[in-house]
Amino acid sequence: MKGVPWSVSISAGIRIVLLGQTGVGKSACGNTILGQKVFRSASRMNAVTTEYSEKHATISGRSVSVVDTPGFFDTEMRPGKLMTEIGKSVYLSSPGPHAFIIVFPVNMRITEQEQQIPQQIEMMFGEEVLKYSIIVFTRGDLLEEEPIETLIEKNCTLRHLVQQCGGRFHIFYNKDENNREQVNDLLQKIDSMIEQNGGEHYSNQMFEDAQRYRREEEERKLREEEEHSENTEFTKFFTKYGHHLRMSAFAVGRYELLGDVISACVVGVCHGHVTQHAQTSLCVML
Ligand SMILES: *[C@@H]1O[C@H](CO)[C@@H](O)[C@H](O)[C@H]1NC(C)=O
Repeated sequence: MKGVPWSVSISAGIRIVLLGQTGVGKSACGNTILGQKVFRSASRMNAVTTEYSEKHATISGRSVSVVDTPGFFDTEMRPGKLMTEIGKSVYLSSPGPHAFIIVFPVNMRITEQEQQIPQQIEMMFGEEVLKYSIIVFTRGDLLEEEPIETLIEKNCTLRHLVQQCGGRFHIFYNKDENNREQVNDLLQKIDSMIEQNGGEHYSNQMFEDAQRYRREEEERKLREEEEHSENTEFTKFFTKYGHHLRMSAFAVGRYELLGDVISACVVGVCHGHVTQHAQTSLCVML
């Protein structure tokens, strides 16, 4: 440790949250950091019962805690639920993680979906979050000749990904599990990130602010949609029931039509999507 003023609090402990898609090796990454097989890999875990857990170990005299999270774009879970589950993991890292590690295997195909991961993380945790994030490329063994630095330099997708996290990245050679140097290097990179953040960690308060903002945005959008749909409700109602009404009238005459209109009204009111306007018009029609 250098003689920096906050080194005391850092040496008291480092909290890390792992983020990434299912199957990218988040658990393996956590195990590499902690130097123990404490996380089970997602492939051996029941994907439906989400297990996120906090594990810790002492590394070079410092306590390091790591929280695993459910994978992004998990097909088994609704996006809303997934967000909530990932969000909950922050609380396991209370009072908030020093570092979010975004895991990418070096051989992963990076499509548009993967490119959106940093934005998704921002949406979930707020715009501050990428200041506390570092990308860790795993399965470095697969890069035979080229160093990762060259790869990033040459490939604009990778470059953009890394730039979004302030240019911070690291590479793990997972086969060489006993290679502690790669872990110490990562912890050093995390230390300089903490230093850049003035010794601060990402806080639960930031998370709650981000959540509140997201809720308010969703409510605002919903309100806008409702206001918009008020005007089109009447049209929609007739698109839906008009044909039915005409057919009934043709087939069985006015008596049945009356019943249909009343039941359509009732259905509409029950579903809460018939405007006053539509109801009045129907009554006039009768
Ligand atoms: C950049 O790297 C990603 C991830 O390895 C890969 O999916 C993509 O095809 C590469 N793009 C180019 C232009 O080489």
